[in-house]
Amino acid sequence: MTAFELTRLLPGDHFAQALRADVRHGLTAPAKSLPPKWFYDKRGSELFEDITRLPEYYPTRAERAILTARATEIAQATKARTLVELGSGSSEKTRLLLDALRTLGTLDTYVPVDVSESALREAGHALAADYPELAVHGVVSDFTASLALPRAVHGPRLVAFLGGTLGNLLPVERAGFLSALRAELSHGDALLLGTDLVKDPAVLVAAYDDAAGVTAEFNKNVLNVLDRELQAGFDPDDFDHVALWDAEQEWIEMRLRSRRAQRVPIPALGLTVEFAAGEELRTEVSAKFRRERVAEELHAAGFALRHWWTDPEGRFGLSLAEPV
Ligand code: SAH
Ligand code: AVI
Repeated sequence: MTAFELTRLLPGDHFAQALRADVRHGLTAPAKSLPPKWFYDKRGSELFEDITRLPEYYPTRAERAILTARATEIAQATKARTLVELGSGSSEKTRLLLDALRTLGTLDTYVPVDVSESALREAGHALAADYPELAVHGVVSDFTASLALPRAVHGPRLVAFLGGTLGNLLPVERAGFLSALRAELSHGDALLLGTDLVKDPAVLVAAYDDAAGVTAEFNKNVLNVLDRELQAGFDPDDFDHVALWDAEQEWIEMRLRSRRAQRVPIPALGLTVEFAAGEELRTEVSAKFRRERVAEELHAAGFALRHWWTDPEGRFGLSLAEPV
C-alpha cells in the first residue's frame, strides 16, 4: 500500500503571520471583514461537513449528482495522470473522479491541497487505504498565496476546484487566482471547476441560515480561532449570525453582528477592537454564477470552457476548461 504523504510548501510561520496580518487589517478597517479561509480549523472543517448534509444546503448534493453523471466523460476527456484538488476538504465527492480515472487506468497520483491539515490527514489516510495503487500526496497550503505544487506532479494534470469555493474569493481575487492557476498549467492539462448558480434568493438564504443553526456555528467558529491563536477576547455569544443576498453583486454575504457595544482585546496584536451595537463583521462572500460569467472569467484568465454541465434542477454548474 502506498502511504499517505503530507507536505507543507509554505514557510513554517506563514499561517501565523498571515492570520495576524489579516486580522489587523480586517478588524481595523472602517468596514470590518475577515477572509473565509480562517473558518477551517479542525472544528470548522467538521462543521463544514455537517453543513453539506443539511436539508437546506443543496450545493454538495447537486454537484455530486453532476459528478455521478459525468465522471466517466471527464476521465475520458482529460486522461489525467495526476489529479490535483484545491480546497479538497474531505475529498468525498472526489472519489467519483478517482473511481472513473482508476477504471480508465491513467491516474497514478492524487494531490489534495487544503489549509486544513486535519481535513487533509483524515481524507488522505482514508484514501490511501481505499486506493492502494494511488500515490496520495497531501499539501497544506493557501491557494490564494501560492499555487506551487510538489515536484514530480506529472501531466496530464486535472486540477479540480469543487464545491463552489471559487465563489468565496472576491472578484479581483478570483481573477488573480485564475490567472495564476493558468500560469501553472500546460497544454493537455485541464481545470474542473464547480460553481453555485444564481437562483431564488429564498433558497440561497436558507442554505446559509439553516434551521438547525449549524451555519451560524460555523460562522462564529472564526471567533474561536481568533481567541485560540491570538488570545483574543471574543465571546461568540455576543454576536448574531447574519446571511443576506446581495442582488447587485449576486453573492451571499455572511456576517457576524455585534449584539452590544463592546471592546475586544487581541493581545497577540497589541490591539483592542471596538464594535458598536449592531455593527457587522463580514466573514464570507459566496458568489453565485451564471454560465456566461464563468465562461468570461475563464476566458480572461486564458482558459477555454469546453464542457458545461448542471444538475437536472439547474442549481449548480460544473465546467471543464482547458488552457489556451
Ligand atoms: N471541496 C470540498 C470542500 C469545500 S469547503 C467540497 O466541495 O465539499 C472549502 C475547503 O477549502 C475547506 O476544506 C477549506 O479548508 C479549504 N480552503 C478554504 N480556503 C482555502 C485557501 N485559501 N487555500 C487552501 N484551502 C482553502
Ligand atoms: C466552501 N464554500 C463553497 C461554502 C459556500 O457555500 O460558500 C462555505 C460555506 N459557507 C457557509 N456555508 C457553507
